Amino acid sequence: MVSNPKIMTLERFIREQEEKFPSASGEFSNMLFALTLAAKLVWREVSKAGLVNILGTTDQVNVSGDILKKLDLFADETIYKTMFYSGNICAMASEESNGLIEIPKKCDSGKYVLLFDPLDGSSNIDANITIGTIFSIFKRVTPSGVGTLEDCLQTGYNQVAAGYIIYGTSTMFIYTTGNGVHGFTLDPSVGEFLLSNENIRIPSKGKMYSINEGNYNYWSPPIQRYIKYLKEIDNPSGRPYSLRYIGTMVGDVHRTLLYGGIFMYPADKKNPDGKLRLMYECNPMAFIVEQAGGKAINGKQRILDITPNSLHQQTPIFIGSSEDVTKCQEFLSSPE
Ligand code: AHG
Ligand code: MN
Ligand code: MN
Repeated sequence: MVSNPKIMTLERFIREQEEKFPSASGEFSNMLFALTLAAKLVWREVSKAGLVNILGTTDQVNVSGDILKKLDLFADETIYKTMFYSGNICAMASEESNGLIEIPKKCDSGKYVLLFDPLDGSSNIDANITIGTIFSIFKRVTPSGVGTLEDCLQTGYNQVAAGYIIYGTSTMFIYTTGNGVHGFTLDPSVGEFLLSNENIRIPSKGKMYSINEGNYNYWSPPIQRYIKYLKEIDNPSGRPYSLRYIGTMVGDVHRTLLYGGIFMYPADKKNPDGKLRLMYECNPMAFIVEQAGGKAINGKQRILDITPNSLHQQTPIFIGSSEDVTKCQEFLSSPE
């Protein structure tokens, strides 16, 4: 076995990054530590998902008298409770909640705003297929007290951190603070995330595309033409591309980040504004992919430049290798 030259925990890595900013108060790092704890708590539950039928299902009372919750609600609650008590958050919103999550009075003094998708790909849970958690962090814009909608509804380029946890064959924590993208793999035997993918760079062009092709007849002609183009035989340009689609954005974007290519969820006749959510899914993934050298657009503009007007706003997304996204944009800009 080839040994790794260094064993670096996620917490040490966060600390070392903080030391590069001598004026840092430590609040940002503490918030990231709290997120790593939330990730481990969710992972612990996710890894038992298949046992739910043996141990009891939603709304049943388990042996210790607790009501068992659906995994996505469990993840939601675990994340917001862990993050409240980190003391660094003034406002929080999640894909599972309608408005802002109410922050207890004693936890309202933080500088940061957290938006998250607690469990992404939840329809895949029962089939034991990869799922994930996505987070996006902004600095508050209001001066003090409990954060408001204004703190949450910021444009993506203002994010100070973003990341995802992928519960796959291994569990990984991938994040950026605007200084490259770094990946850590959980060693479950010691409960630590260890640095496994430092400074991830997405290939400038890939060989795979990822889209729910069952929606083909709902798409606009430019998207149909682009997908047809990817399937044409043209060896010098690497076509046909292979199709890969998990149906969990975290998994599909993670593969795209490592192998290159493009992931898409366009607008279609069923979802005229696209399906995926700007604040919980698209902004954080766009920040990560851009930090790794890739691109993310909605067909008309950069995802990170979209001015949000509601927490649950949806957007079309085309994200991945820069050459692939540029080519896709050419098709999207052509007349219907
Ligand atoms: P969520 O489970 O958080 O609601 O997200 C599901 C999303 C996303 O993960 C995935 O890319 C997409 O839905 C899949 O949608 P289709 O089933 O329409 O392909
Ligand atoms: Mn999701
Ligand atoms: Mn979700």
